[in-house]
Amino acid sequence: MLAFVSLVFLLFAAPVRGNDASLDDLTASDRVTATREQPDYTNDVAPIIARACTQCHRVDGVAPFSLQSADDLLKRSRNIARAVRDGLMPPWFASTPSDARHRFKNDASLSAQDKATLLAWLESSDHPSARASGDVVAAPLAPITRSAWRIGEPDAILELPEAIEIKAEGTMPYVNVRVATNFESDKWIRAWEVIPSAREVVHHVLVFAVAPDAKNTMDVSSGFFAAFVPGGGMRQYDNTRAKLLPKGSTLVFQLHYTPNGRATSDRTKIGLVFAESAPQYEVRTAGIFDAKLDIPPNNASHEEGTSITVPADIRILSWMPHMHTRGKSFRASMTHPSSSTDDGGVVSETGRSEILLDIPRYDFDWQLSYDYETPVDVAKGATLTIDATFDNSADNAENPDPTQRVRWGQQTTDEMLIGYLEYELRDGGAPIGGGRVRDVVADRARQFAAFDEDGDGAIERNEGGPAVRRSFDAADADHDDRVTRAEFDLFVSRSNPAKNR
Ligand code: HEC
Repeated sequence: MLAFVSLVFLLFAAPVRGNDASLDDLTASDRVTATREQPDYTNDVAPIIARACTQCHRVDGVAPFSLQSADDLLKRSRNIARAVRDGLMPPWFASTPSDARHRFKNDASLSAQDKATLLAWLESSDHPSARASGDVVAAPLAPITRSAWRIGEPDAILELPEAIEIKAEGTMPYVNVRVATNFESDKWIRAWEVIPSAREVVHHVLVFAVAPDAKNTMDVSSGFFAAFVPGGGMRQYDNTRAKLLPKGSTLVFQLHYTPNGRATSDRTKIGLVFAESAPQYEVRTAGIFDAKLDIPPNNASHEEGTSITVPADIRILSWMPHMHTRGKSFRASMTHPSSSTDDGGVVSETGRSEILLDIPRYDFDWQLSYDYETPVDVAKGATLTIDATFDNSADNAENPDPTQRVRWGQQTTDEMLIGYLEYELRDGGAPIGGGRVRDVVADRARQFAAFDEDGDGAIERNEGGPAVRRSFDAADADHDDRVTRAEFDLFVSRSNPAKNR
């Protein structure tokens, strides 16, 4: 049945191209196959693979094997057909229906037509015609880049001061390592790339930039700078854009390792390409986060969400949603400001809403970034909202414990809900709070307010979830069972992320 469907698809939808050079070599029975417009590797399959697979499946890529030649595909044809048919590969989670307003330039998903072409070729690959047509020896996709750096030769490379030992078994808490930048001036970053040395055990790496005047602070919502995730791990901006790394900044690498049965060690590094001068637009990062989340036990579809009002005209370049293993779906949307926003930024309910990113099935294993083909303009006074659902039921195979009430926290057993967005100011104005490494103080106020659930100006022991509970005694300097804002600030500024190890 499936073969039939693919064939019909192929006849009507697949690009039809001649294959004359190889027709002479075919036997009569093969010719029957050929007249069915069997797709061939060079014209039909290779372009699909180049667009949807080889960004990861290449020599030195993040995927475990290369798919750069016809042979590579034929060697694993059954496995590949299964992964493609089941929608496991390529990994892509944003829903972009044909009428979607916003498209993503790193969208790796396959159209129904590409899928049919690929499957038809894979499924016929044992047939002599596939081999006779020369597919097996077809030239590999060019270029195979052997250079470890996709961004080109970096101007600076910063690596962990020493290798991190990864155990063979079990789980590891996040590892936080500080790396001083020691550059003599502010740097404009045109491109960055994060490369672990032991990819097989690195689940993801987040890199935060901490400005010199915020020395011992690390806040999830501020200073998010770079990341390594399967399929990501790099960014190259065009000539008009760059990211500022202030002189004296420290990079904090937050590394999540997943032991795979063999002890090893990792020394992740980041490569930076500098722009020669200040760009037209500074690329900034902000995290919209819901630190108040409170997920009841045994709930298969618990909703959480939060909004911010945008303080200036901005342009969004990309999103990176971040939740943990109970994350089920994620959506980012904006509500346009109504004309009556002059009275202090109150957004009318009547403002039109539009979806900016829709992830119906979030997957913790793929912390992808969604990069707009055309950056999205958002007007001052608009509301940006993130909404998510969490599956805290036993049906969620990744759920560490469905019987727990789950609150905000760093561990994979805690949860998070963050929408990181990369954006620029269109005409100056104030950035989104926390969007820049210098804005941690404003952020701290927001975080404190989120933990202080009853709003009485102090965090009590029963507020703020497990992340607070774990640190409560350390933060409660005068032991009166209340953490005041002053105690909170002192505690945060003293917590040296490096000690987290
Ligand atoms: C964003 C990066 C990325 C892209 C794009 C990608 N893959 Fe993968 N692929 C991976 C990684 C990483 C793994 C190994 C981890 C895993 O199995 O989840 C993998 C595993 C696989 C597997 C083995 C799965 C299994 O269950 O054994 C197949 C087959 C595969 N990919 C085929 C493809 C094909 C075909 C494409 C393009 C149509 C593609 N992949 C696109 C990253 C990618």
